[in-house]
Amino acid sequence: MNEDGLYIQMFSIHGLIRSRDIEMGRDADTGGQVKYVIELAETLGRQEGVAQVDLFTRHIEDKRVAKIYGREVERIARTERSSGKVRIVRVKCGGLKYHRKELLWPFLDEYVDRVLTFTKKEGRIPDMVHGHYADGGYVAMSLSPLFGVPFAFTGHSMGRVKKQKLLDDGMSDEEVNAQYDIDHRISVEEAVIENADLVVTSTSQEIAKQYGLYEKKGKPTFQVIPPSVALDRFYPYYDDRLRGGSKRDEKVVQAEAFILEELNRFFINPEKPVVLTLCRPDKRKNISGLIKAYGEDKDLQAMANLAVFAGIRKDISQMGENEQEVLTDMLLLMDKYDLYGNMAIPKSHNPTDDVPALYRTTAASHGVFVNSALTEPFGLTLLEAAGCGLPIVATNDGGPIDIVANCDNGLLVDVTQEESMARAVRKILSDRETWKKYSTNGIIGVHKHYTWDAHCKTYLEAIKTMIGRTSGTGASARESEESVGKRLTKFDKLLITDIDNTLTGDDEAMAELFTILEEHKETIGFCLATGRTIESTMDLIAERQMPHPDILISSVGTEIHYSRTLIEDKGWASHISQSWDREKTAELLSQLEFLELQEHENQRTFKVSFYMKPHPDHIPWIYELMEKNRLRCNVVYSHQSYLDVLPFRASKGGAVKYLSSKWRFPPDKIMVFGDSGNDEEMMRGQYKGVVVGNYSPEMEKLKGRKDVYFSPENHAAGILDGLHHFGFLVAKKEPAPDKKKDEKASEVNPE
Ligand code: GLC
Ligand code: MG
Repeated sequence: MNEDGLYIQMFSIHGLIRSRDIEMGRDADTGGQVKYVIELAETLGRQEGVAQVDLFTRHIEDKRVAKIYGREVERIARTERSSGKVRIVRVKCGGLKYHRKELLWPFLDEYVDRVLTFTKKEGRIPDMVHGHYADGGYVAMSLSPLFGVPFAFTGHSMGRVKKQKLLDDGMSDEEVNAQYDIDHRISVEEAVIENADLVVTSTSQEIAKQYGLYEKKGKPTFQVIPPSVALDRFYPYYDDRLRGGSKRDEKVVQAEAFILEELNRFFINPEKPVVLTLCRPDKRKNISGLIKAYGEDKDLQAMANLAVFAGIRKDISQMGENEQEVLTDMLLLMDKYDLYGNMAIPKSHNPTDDVPALYRTTAASHGVFVNSALTEPFGLTLLEAAGCGLPIVATNDGGPIDIVANCDNGLLVDVTQEESMARAVRKILSDRETWKKYSTNGIIGVHKHYTWDAHCKTYLEAIKTMIGRTSGTGASARESEESVGKRLTKFDKLLITDIDNTLTGDDEAMAELFTILEEHKETIGFCLATGRTIESTMDLIAERQMPHPDILISSVGTEIHYSRTLIEDKGWASHISQSWDREKTAELLSQLEFLELQEHENQRTFKVSFYMKPHPDHIPWIYELMEKNRLRCNVVYSHQSYLDVLPFRASKGGAVKYLSSKWRFPPDKIMVFGDSGNDEEMMRGQYKGVVVGNYSPEMEKLKGRKDVYFSPENHAAGILDGLHHFGFLVAKKEPAPDKKKDEKASEVNPE
């Protein structure tokens, strides 16, 4: 933590997130969670001890959505409430088009990569990462070990619960997976729960009924911290009326006028109380249940009108399948029960301004808010309605149970029993005393239990104890040494060397090199790039007592790991996996007589290796054969004997290029050292390249290349010579003062 306070990174990847005019209900991905994370971020930014809050979401450039979703950084500086310490940061993954959340899974490793790049650019490592929903949880889980910081998770809704509901609804396992990729989501949730240091839930029931369905349910620390209501917007219905005309905010007046106008388009008797529901057009919200309850109950129809605000729609036929079904059902039921004149189904409303006005108008009519969802983890709408003084009838599940227990502001019902839902609504509508009690209790209770300030205080207490912990008692015990993220943010240079015959071969020179690396370890990162597997490299490091590299590129560039704990770079794995079919490749090449398969332990997921005698035509033949079979690959030949077939994007050189862009190392601050064919591509980057004196013939072709130095010295003596040749060590003795200033990293991350 810096002196100025905590820096928190939050991740809420899907949906449409912006600080103003949130498009609540525009689609299934832009709902309660979006609002939750924005308000949480805003309030966190106002807390003492918090220096910076970044809310990361996806960068979208798509004609179908507003331009702002393509702005990289949006600073929230909305009102006097906002501290200016909060930003929405938009990071790309999976292209620029807007996609529903179920399609984003394959791109999350790319997302992680770009967050790292952004963080490196900013020069400040967060003290804490917090993922929202399974996708954000995955991102936070991946970043946590790289930054060496704890990670918190808020599920918002959980896959196992959703899957069960959908199966109960009659969908098949295949259908559920085809539409929602639900099993994948569940497996991500399992991993996230296993690794999280803290899981924040809104209700206590969530812990038992939702997380309880998971295998690792007992592992993390759970903390119930209810979300809040924006009480400055969701104030009691009588406030405006008491304040009188002159002090009323013009926007509020307009919103109320709009709502009345909108409702009156539908109602024959607009003076009746309103039974209101407001939710996304999602099956689980059980809108049809409420319409049936109202439609079947003539007394209720006589007493009150029904208003259903189910998101925003233009053309139902252009909407998603789930939404279409829900909306069509709604219209059919309205027709079936002939509810024309006493049921309103407005097409649109402005979620920011109109919703509070809607609740207040409904409260002023002495109406009731109904949440008929089958499951309701949060129930934010219920709290907002309560804040406006609107009594509630809600599903006897999740959040509503806590809300009614805390506030005593309405009735809980089994929403699958339509009659009992109708009965509860009637009970409140018919008795003024009851209505008054629930209305008042709601307003008072919400102020007491559900404010973001109260939420943030509890939250900060919980995370401060985690951040202070050095050795992990948390679910993911972390090494106490400096994190990869911190180290990589600090270096200004990176030394990358091959092992066999480059680093090894001259013990004395190698020892001298290690002394130099130790002396410069604050400024020079150390990276090994080898054809060996990670296991064999680790054995050699132990045997020869080498310093542990910050980055380890192994198996000819097909795998990247960080630090002593060998954190895998999944972004790289996902990047090179494109167009790679290992099985087919291996099968095809095994038919070639001039190839002899290497030992089993040298074969890897992204590397098929052979022995081959030199022959000028053989490599072209391999490429031709692969191409004929529509396979893409990269063939690397070393020491006139080893032949590696890799994914087309993979090589040691490719890995270095990837690292350079991911961690924002300028190429001229990178030095690469090698002796044989698998090092060749590294030498072709814009880095400073050194070929040691004992090089293999295949390196000859690099002669004459600018930026590649052929050292007359062999092995590690060649490395030492190369370092001097390029003046790579000079900076330590005489740091350039103005350059240092540019490297924000060392300033903001004092040790
Ligand atoms: C290492 C690997 C081997 C590979 C060779 C050249 O010796 O063990 O599988 O073919 O490097 O890259
Ligand atoms: Mg070598």
